[in-house]
Amino acid sequence: MAASAEKHNLKEGKMKAVIAGTGVDEVLSSFEENMEDTYYGYVTYYRKDDVIIIPRHRKNHTDSPSMVNYKANISALVSLGCSEVIGIYAVGSITDKLPPSSFALVGDFMDFSGRSISFFNGEENPLKHTCMDNVFDSELNRKIKEAAGCELADDIVYVMTNGPRLETAGEIRAFCRLGADVVGMTLATEASLLKELGLRYSALAYSINWAQGVRGGEMSFITSSDTSKLCRHILDTALRALS
Ligand code: HPA
Repeated sequence: MAASAEKHNLKEGKMKAVIAGTGVDEVLSSFEENMEDTYYGYVTYYRKDDVIIIPRHRKNHTDSPSMVNYKANISALVSLGCSEVIGIYAVGSITDKLPPSSFALVGDFMDFSGRSISFFNGEENPLKHTCMDNVFDSELNRKIKEAAGCELADDIVYVMTNGPRLETAGEIRAFCRLGADVVGMTLATEASLLKELGLRYSALAYSINWAQGVRGGEMSFITSSDTSKLCRHILDTALRALS
């Protein structure tokens, strides 16, 4: 974290954060809206007591996955003094390990997006190759499992595509052969930036559809009201884990 402190207006603190996506908007009204100015741009965040929520696509889901200002979002968390972060991710299901309407902890990821987003790319900070071991924090995972009060897998493998288009059936077949359980468009970028800065981080994936071709020709998504309910339940679980 110290290596880039000058870029992050670093404050000491014990704040906790959730970064969320699809389905989060309805929850934000009970949080106070604030703005943080970072080296990478402004970030709107929502605060209640010592917890911050960042809607990664901004309110009303305006930024596509490849347009999200990931570096600004994470830089804001650091400058606001966040030490623990839970990311929440809507995904498509590739294997039966995480069928639609269920959620679990992510244990590993693969990045097929072609994005190369890093705090240490030799531009604003010197080049550095960060190891991707122990990306997900075991103690935070334990707290999430306790807060969930039910069995929660912690070894889901997430594959990331660039989007915004969805995958072809052939791509999903290939990802399945490579060992992916779920597909999404945001986690790998966020996870690697958080690891670069050394934040304690866990990731909860919740499935809103079978990925293309997994269950026949046409994709179908759970309803938006079920998505909101599921997101709300996971957010509550995350907030309990952080309390
Ligand atoms: N593919 C990619 N991202 C997603 C999907 C999907 O099927 N569902 C939710 N996010």
